Amino acid sequence: MNLTIVILAAGKGSRMKSPKAKVLHEICGREMLYYSIKAAREITDDIIVVVAHQKDAVIAAMKKYFDNLIFVTQDAENFPGTGGAMMGIQPRYDDVLVLNGDMPLISRYSIEKFLSNPADIVMSVIPLDNPSGYGRVVIEEGRVMRIVEEKDATPQEKAINTVNAGVYAFKHHVLQTYIPRLSNANAQGEYYLTDVIEMAHKDGLSISPLFVEEVEFKGVNSKNDLANAEMIMMDRLRRNWMDAGVIMQLPETIYLEEGVTFEGECIIENGARLCGNSLIVNSHIKAHSVIEESVIRNSDVGPLAHIRPQSLLDETHVGNFVEVKKSTLNGVKAGHLSYLGDATIDSGTNIGAGTITCNYDGIKKYQTIIGKNVFIGSDTQLVAPVEISDNVMIAAGTTVTAGKYESDILILSRTPIRKVTGFFTKFFGKGK
Ligand code: UD1
Ligand code: MG
Repeated sequence: MNLTIVILAAGKGSRMKSPKAKVLHEICGREMLYYSIKAAREITDDIIVVVAHQKDAVIAAMKKYFDNLIFVTQDAENFPGTGGAMMGIQPRYDDVLVLNGDMPLISRYSIEKFLSNPADIVMSVIPLDNPSGYGRVVIEEGRVMRIVEEKDATPQEKAINTVNAGVYAFKHHVLQTYIPRLSNANAQGEYYLTDVIEMAHKDGLSISPLFVEEVEFKGVNSKNDLANAEMIMMDRLRRNWMDAGVIMQLPETIYLEEGVTFEGECIIENGARLCGNSLIVNSHIKAHSVIEESVIRNSDVGPLAHIRPQSLLDETHVGNFVEVKKSTLNGVKAGHLSYLGDATIDSGTNIGAGTITCNYDGIKKYQTIIGKNVFIGSDTQLVAPVEISDNVMIAAGTTVTAGKYESDILILSRTPIRKVTGFFTKFFGKGK
């Protein structure tokens, strides 16, 4: 489509009360700016992102997901505000759509509604019960007169409950005419993009208000807004995956991130937390388990298991209170109470309850490699680096010291039992 989309992402977002730039705050595991760019990308290739505050971090974050974005740096010191953000913009096309970067819930369908309208300016408006925080749109006899920011509004203007949602479609000539004429004579000392409306109205340009749905146009300005936007986004994600065939029990209790993908028949029980770019294939994730940036294939996990980043589980059973980190388990059973870190474990191997890979000596991390059909008794410690060949039995309670162990052996380290006859009675006395 012959459309330039400009996304404003240069502001600090002081109402977030955070050292982090507002647009980098995450919703379902991705920075909120990602979502408006994603929606924009579905419509056009010409996307300009205006940056300034923490610009290197913002650019680096978006480059993880998108290429061919055009980043323009706002001179935010001399020309602060959304109007200042538009000053260096050179759109490729005559139609220019401007989006605030703090609207993660917007979809391509909502954006497209702005495009079939011949007016010089199409601007988004929402009637709200509680308009506070937004710019108010002054409409007289059905015509948009101006937008007044809350901080500049008179009490009468504050009572207006039709607000500016922050999305505008402009013809390029409108921007060329009015952006250079903006002034910062207002309560915030900023150049407001919204002042273009009043100037254009006075010159007789056509301004068309487009009433939009609140849910897609909500601006995120505070940590409360962030949490609400995340709830809405996560609900969408869960519904999409259920439509695609995933079974979710008590779905509203499941935390799910944007990067997670499911294939085949998956069952996700209540309270599960699925994060990062995890891939879950034909697997059952039981209640209150946490999966971070891992691949789980034909396996069952939990309840109450923790699979940390860069793990791969295939044909594997991981039970309660098992933590796996950066490990590959292929055809393994680890039913209870274990820590398996920096390990590679092959098929037919059984990990007894209480098995720990001692992978860290306080300075470096070391690998544990375990072959096929190894039977590891309960309460075994494997002091890495350690390599166990196929067909080995490790007796319960063994400390396997670092080294390589050949096939077809029993490994056992145990303190011999001492029996002290009559000790109990002597210690506690006869009456006990
Ligand atoms: C803005 C609108 C307001 C509207 C609201 C909708 C203006 C003056 N006000 O207010 O009418 O109701 O959005 O959500 O436009 N930004 C920059 N450079 C800056 C300042 C901001 O790029 O110098 C970016 C921010 O990163 C953000 C977006 O512009 O993504 C909006 O800025 P924000 O400060 O949230 O504006 P609002 O006060 O919400
Ligand atoms: Mg805002």
